[in-house]
Amino acid sequence: MIPYKHEPFTDFTVEENKKEFEAALEKVKGELGKDHDLLVNGERISTDDKIVSVNPANKEQVIGRVSKANKDIAEQAIQAADEAIKSWRKWTPRARAELLFRAAAIVRRRKHEFSAYLVYEAGKPWKEADADTAEAIDFMEYYARQMIELGEGKAINSRPGEDNRYVYKPTGVTVVIPPWNFAFAIMAGTTVAPIVTGNTVLLKPASATPVIAAKFVEVLVEAGLPKGVLNFVPGSGAEVGDYLVDHPKTALISFTGSREVGTRIFERAAKVHPGQTHLKRVIAEMGGKDTVVVEKDADLELAAQAITVSAFGFSGQKCSAGSRAVVHEDVYDQVLDRVIELTNELTVGDTTDHENYMGPVIDQGAYDKIMSYIEIGKEEGRLVAGGTGDDSKGFFIQPTVFADLDPEARIQQEEIFGPVVAFTKVKDFDEAMEVANNTEYGLTGALITNNREYIERAKDEFQVGNLYFNRNCTGAIVGYHPFGGFKMSGTDSKAGGPDYLILHMQAKTISEMF
Ligand code: NAD
Ligand code: ALA
Repeated sequence: MIPYKHEPFTDFTVEENKKEFEAALEKVKGELGKDHDLLVNGERISTDDKIVSVNPANKEQVIGRVSKANKDIAEQAIQAADEAIKSWRKWTPRARAELLFRAAAIVRRRKHEFSAYLVYEAGKPWKEADADTAEAIDFMEYYARQMIELGEGKAINSRPGEDNRYVYKPTGVTVVIPPWNFAFAIMAGTTVAPIVTGNTVLLKPASATPVIAAKFVEVLVEAGLPKGVLNFVPGSGAEVGDYLVDHPKTALISFTGSREVGTRIFERAAKVHPGQTHLKRVIAEMGGKDTVVVEKDADLELAAQAITVSAFGFSGQKCSAGSRAVVHEDVYDQVLDRVIELTNELTVGDTTDHENYMGPVIDQGAYDKIMSYIEIGKEEGRLVAGGTGDDSKGFFIQPTVFADLDPEARIQQEEIFGPVVAFTKVKDFDEAMEVANNTEYGLTGALITNNREYIERAKDEFQVGNLYFNRNCTGAIVGYHPFGGFKMSGTDSKAGGPDYLILHMQAKTISEMF
């Protein structure tokens, strides 16, 4: 088996790559507006009630109409998953892994097509869409290899006359609830992890990006997934989401999304319902309020670039986005001025045009929320770049920078999830760490410094699940930067890391006397 290596990103400075991507955008444009079915027990189901997915850059453009499950369909899907697990759990780990290798190969062959869907459905710039698709491939390749390794279990001690083994078994019926912001990567990663570990899945995609999920379900079917192993049940969070979470047959819930919904799921899953024979397990990866810290001895150009990229990549709509810059007073003005310059150079618009660095935010709700935070920011700090939006055609917001924020200000505490970064000035490294840690979240963080002592201290003191030095705080790569947060950012499951699959299984000790 070829060792794991992450999927390379496409170099769009190469004219041929650009042309191929443009051709994919054209092809996908011709497919937009189609109906997509549910999948329950291998049967495609079309319902009258549909989720209509639209392009956030152009509200008039329908990406697709996806059938919507209700409680009855959700119940059929749970029963199908409960039945299918009886045989699926007996497939060898290698056979399940091979199915993922096959699915990864299918996606790789049609890579730009999937990225093009992300451009239209999520408003991703080419580079971000390409990285999202690469990450989806990575999750399949990485988890498949991990499963082969874990297939034999782990070594434990035996004694004369006693043979002991430690193996992993599937947990059970799994409900997968992903967000829209990594509409392919996180949706695919959280779906294939329970599948490759021998569980059966109900996938309820995010309502803003159900079409890319429907396309991925087609890939897994094409790769040979038996009926009932994956059931595709888009629907409302309140109706279908709660029903699946509460169901007594649900054994594991894998959620990625906001703190609000994640904590609600965590609490509901703790309740034991009539007929339930196990405690439910919850993986909940939630929001972030991530900080880039700049010390006085730092490379200031690197610092300004790191702040700008962390804040405005995919319009700040990453859980890992650096929405806070905490900068030493001696270099504060220099770094701020350079970030303002870099921000004013960024272009915003429809990302079918490769020249646009930033696209729209995902929908009207997000637009209104971000614009209201910009108004709050004007009260709390000094607006130094951006601050305007236009939702006449799509949901566009200019990259926005605020200066001179009190660390307790709302825009320094609450997740905005848009293209807004706020600066706070600190007098020394002690204060920098104190301010960086004073949010309830603990997902990512970056420290820009050339001081080895501060690097060593940050390794212990900076309370984040993903800590980066002298770079941006976004862009974790599967197998290289296992991803998950501390504190209210979630259960620190470390997606794309060596411990992740184990969270989907139950360890079993088998001891035999000879
Ligand atoms: P969200 O919480 O609004 O929705 C996430 C998912 O939960 C969606 O599929 C939604 O339909 C579903 N849902 C909503 N109500 C539900 C309910 N009552 N029961 C069950 N499911 C329900 O989040 P979002 O807007 O899709 O994504 C943005 C959020 O996700 C941000 O907070 C971001 O930081 C976070 N996020 C975290 C990570 C991470 O790895 N920590 C990664 C990506 C995004
Ligand atoms: N994996 C994504 C990042 O690190 C969330 O930006």
